Amino acid sequence: MNQLTIALAKGRLADKGLELFKNTDIEIDCDENSRKLVFTDAKEEIRFIFAKPSDIITYVEKGVADLGIVGKDMILEENREVYELMDLGFGKCRFAIAGFENQNINKKNDVLRIATNYPNYVKRVFDAKSQRVEIIKLNGSIELAPVIGLSDLIVDIVETGETLKKNGLVVLEELDSISARLVANKASYRLNFDTIKKIENKLGGN
Ligand code: PRP
Repeated sequence: MNQLTIALAKGRLADKGLELFKNTDIEIDCDENSRKLVFTDAKEEIRFIFAKPSDIITYVEKGVADLGIVGKDMILEENREVYELMDLGFGKCRFAIAGFENQNINKKNDVLRIATNYPNYVKRVFDAKSQRVEIIKLNGSIELAPVIGLSDLIVDIVETGETLKKNGLVVLEELDSISARLVANKASYRLNFDTIKKIENKLGGN
């Protein structure tokens, strides 16, 4: 059997991604807190690589990883040439437009300033509303932007809603639902179809 490479995201999805494999007969002996970025399973059939969530889809699209586990948020933002094979059912949250209570999210003759880590996605959302926006790309702590007057609104992922609440913000419109997805490189999916199907089955797919 060809050794497959699976890219896993460090951070939010890492533990649950590994847990998923630990519930199968694939034995991974890795220390999640180690700085090591490459591991193989006991039978050396699968190589696991750990990367930043926003880079997983690049590794898979370029074919250096055959499979990857990535949040649907990244898939919606990046719009890349990969197959989305399975909803893995964890890492559930949603995209939302958020701001201050009763704030208007449509200003037909005005430009709305939106802070986000997901500029491509935000452009599509507001283009569909025919609302002109200035997108302010930030890399984290997005909730800060309206609080200190950098933006009118934010578009971000909301899980418990705690970060919004703690900063005096509310969800003004719910957008797409998000969860972790198994993605595959398109060429590898054809070449390694049987092996990938077996892995999909072990992870609970049909
Ligand atoms: C994410 C997201 C929100 C928060 C939402 O940030 O950007 O800030 O989590 O979660 P909640 O609804 O449960 O409060 P993350 O913790 O990944 O860190 P970041 O702000 O540095 O992006």
